Amino acid sequence: MGTPEQTACGRRILLVLSGGIAACKAPDLIRSLRERGFSVRCVMAQAAAQFVTPLTVSALSGDTVYQDLFSLTDEAQMGHIRLSREADLVLVAPCTASLMARMATGLADDLASTVLLATDKPVMIAPAMNTKMWEHPATQANRSTLLERGIRIIEPGVGELACGEYGVGRMAEVPGIVAAVEAHFRLHQSRFVLSGLRALVTSGPTIEAIDPVRFISNHSSGRQGHAVAAALATLGADVTLVHGPVSLPAPPGVSAVPVQSAREMLQACLSVIEEGKVDVAVCVAAVADWYAHYTSSKIKKGQDPAPLSLSLHPNPDILATLSRPGPHRPRLVIGFAAETGDLVEQARAKRQRKGCDWICANDVSPGTGTFGGMRNTVYLVTETTEEYWPAMDKTEVADRLVRSVASALGYASSVSSAAEKVS
Ligand code: C5P
Repeated sequence: MGTPEQTACGRRILLVLSGGIAACKAPDLIRSLRERGFSVRCVMAQAAAQFVTPLTVSALSGDTVYQDLFSLTDEAQMGHIRLSREADLVLVAPCTASLMARMATGLADDLASTVLLATDKPVMIAPAMNTKMWEHPATQANRSTLLERGIRIIEPGVGELACGEYGVGRMAEVPGIVAAVEAHFRLHQSRFVLSGLRALVTSGPTIEAIDPVRFISNHSSGRQGHAVAAALATLGADVTLVHGPVSLPAPPGVSAVPVQSAREMLQACLSVIEEGKVDVAVCVAAVADWYAHYTSSKIKKGQDPAPLSLSLHPNPDILATLSRPGPHRPRLVIGFAAETGDLVEQARAKRQRKGCDWICANDVSPGTGTFGGMRNTVYLVTETTEEYWPAMDKTEVADRLVRSVASALGYASSVSSAAEKVS
């Protein structure tokens, strides 16, 4: 881990101030970032000027403050596209409910939202709003959308709000925001720590066709598997993601192989493994346990519908197959186990039965919201250790798992997580 100056090392932050009372923390934030060695350029939404003057922001940042999408002077000096690209990180603090909504829907109706739509740089937001606004399903849906797109969220804290109410919604304190920014750049510095590592990840459900219109499947969203693939790729690993039908896009930098059935998933995995040595395989897919004999024309109900019997055959076990000893066996094979009780006992037994090295047991009991949701609670069971990871975002589970993989395989054990305080 470097000194603050090494972490900052002249990194440029584009700070977007949206119009909330927390904008009055901007002077302190700008000062703290600059003290840590970052250069800061600011974009202010019109309403932000109600809480802090552009003159103060300009004086503290030592740069012009950009406010107006249609300002001839600003555009001539620095077009909004250039503004959005000439930064190493775009930080939105405070981020109002309105700006979160506009970011989630892709609106570009002022300079702040246009810059956020046009940027090709990492974006981090520090939301600040009234508790009810934060808890509103619309804001929570926007939060999920932004997280899925890779935007880092510095979660708001609990406390007294400007409106006099008490609850969650206060913008994170300045030291927390600065720490999240530094954690981001530390992760960035360790970006190529896994280069040379070849990884295979399975994700999503499989679907087993019964006839041309019907199939057997499950509710897996693919979020956890895709997050593991993304975390590996972010650190420079060469990742192949074999996935069943999901509505998520493949993470950037990952080579995606879409499949339908478990048998196709197994074939795709074997091809990847036979192509060249895979160092780590992470089987996150919720593979359907059975397939039915396929009827090539639609099965008719008939005039007087009678019960239909399907004969189901067990699918091949991909995790167990990849775990078998042999020249192609990855050095580390990891499975996930969705359980509803006796998590650790079940995980220990499953690790033995499948022959894999690690099992991440996750609780999918009704009410946990794990299946299809954003968060996960995991027990990591290895040959010699058992670790409990409290409920956290699936992206954080992925970051943490990848750090464990990196140190187990002898890659830099100092891979740091950007996820401290950040989801
Ligand atoms: O047996 P169970 O489905 O609980 O095992 C879960 C683990 O095994 C997951 O890692 C899953 O990806 C993997 N698995 C597999 N092929 C199967 C069934 C499960 O790879 N047919």
